[in-house]
Amino acid sequence: MKFTVLTFGCQMNVHDSDWLIRAMESRGWTAVEESEADIFIINTCSVRDKPEQKVYSVLGRLAPLCKNPGSFVAVGGCVAQQIGDGFLEKFPHVRLVFGSDGIAQAPDALVDLAANHEKRLVLTDFLGDYPEREGGEVQPNADLIPPGIGTIPGQAFVNIMQGCDNFCAYCIVPYTRGRQKSRSSEAVIKECAHLVKSGVREITLLGQNVNSFGIDKKGEDISFAQLLYKISAIEGLERIRFTTSHPKDIAPEVIKAFGELPNLCPSLHLPVQSGSDRILKKMGRKYDRERYLGIVEGLKEACPNISLTTDLIVGFPGETDEDFEQTMDMLERVRYESSFSFKYSDRPGVAAVKMKPKVPEDVAQARLARLQERQKRITRKSLEALEGHETVVLLERLSKRQEEGGMTWRGKDPGGRVVNVHFAGYGEEQKLGGKLVKVKITEAKNHSLVGAKVGEPW
Ligand code: SAH
Ligand code: SF4
Ligand code: F3S
Repeated sequence: MKFTVLTFGCQMNVHDSDWLIRAMESRGWTAVEESEADIFIINTCSVRDKPEQKVYSVLGRLAPLCKNPGSFVAVGGCVAQQIGDGFLEKFPHVRLVFGSDGIAQAPDALVDLAANHEKRLVLTDFLGDYPEREGGEVQPNADLIPPGIGTIPGQAFVNIMQGCDNFCAYCIVPYTRGRQKSRSSEAVIKECAHLVKSGVREITLLGQNVNSFGIDKKGEDISFAQLLYKISAIEGLERIRFTTSHPKDIAPEVIKAFGELPNLCPSLHLPVQSGSDRILKKMGRKYDRERYLGIVEGLKEACPNISLTTDLIVGFPGETDEDFEQTMDMLERVRYESSFSFKYSDRPGVAAVKMKPKVPEDVAQARLARLQERQKRITRKSLEALEGHETVVLLERLSKRQEEGGMTWRGKDPGGRVVNVHFAGYGEEQKLGGKLVKVKITEAKNHSLVGAKVGEPW
């Protein structure tokens, strides 16, 4: 069968889609472009209204492409979990709905539905434990698919947990991904070791709230800091990252790890959401400015060159100009290298829906624009400060912009910054994805760096 996967949302969805593609290919299916596909899988995101609306517009676009009986759409991910069989009622061309835990059964279900044209299926039950998937080391058919090898050469993502128990007032994730369920440390470490053996150099540990790893499991497992030390010790693993971290759960041992573990990358995404204590309280984030800034100070002490990034919400219900100024002030104090910022968006069933007063759209928009402008300048300055420095880049793929007389590759430095590196005299046949190269930073752009290679890639 020819299929395609359209992915929206966070890194976890991207990783889920990668896994699904490999699982289907191992069943003899072929991943193709949308225009050639018979079966369409949409992996959806529900975190704001916009990505949810996108799902309905994609479904409209796909309807005429599902005319022959073997063609259908499968909707997975967070909107699927949220709406469930509502998709079957509204869209005749949707024949499979699978949620956060249901994805483990999706490959077999897809094969079944491709053979039985009358069948329709909904897989949205939550399970009690972390659902191990085929391709994970603990499964008997572990050799079938290389676990966790994503689309970036030399890099892999490894899920360490699923779900979230925090119920921040604005957030739908605890409803769509369910309760927090940590994977066993044994399964995680085995998968990481297997990946490194098969050539992976950088591993990113994934979860909605990785710092509370193991806390759902009555003390029978290890802490996130202990997990980090164990993974760090895997011979041959050059880089470790993890995301996402909730500031309230980051342990002193994790902060210390940034100063101690040579392969833990000096970069951390630490979503602050707001700089106002009043708003943080309404959001239910369980930290205040002072505590957050204390963590930042600790991180910078342990690892002076750490690159910090964040998520910010403007226009949360009740946010005043004064609250917003506190968020702007946070930008100045922490000097994030970059940030993702969003206008608050009402989500069905979350606590903030009932909170008043709502901030008018134009006010929220003006605040967002101001914040993004400020961030742009801070990003630029922090990138400029790196000019002349030497660093190591893990190459990913050819850059969009090419110049004569060689090939330009894009990759990331340990801080997670994008660096473009030109290789004079190289041709397309030289595949550098997954290779490391030492570079000297020659120029800072708005969102990326340019580096000149110092020595050969390895
Ligand atoms: N688990 C992660 C983030 C998950 S959602 C964490 O706790 O940090 C990613 C980001 O989307 C959040 O950090 C938040 O900034 C944003 N977000 C979540 N719900 C939102 C909403 N209702 N409106 C606007 N932004 C939202
Ligand atoms: Fe959402 Fe908060 Fe959980 Fe992050 S910690 S996923 S923002 S509820
Ligand atoms: Fe979106 Fe679900 Fe991720 S709502 S951000 S895809 S956890």
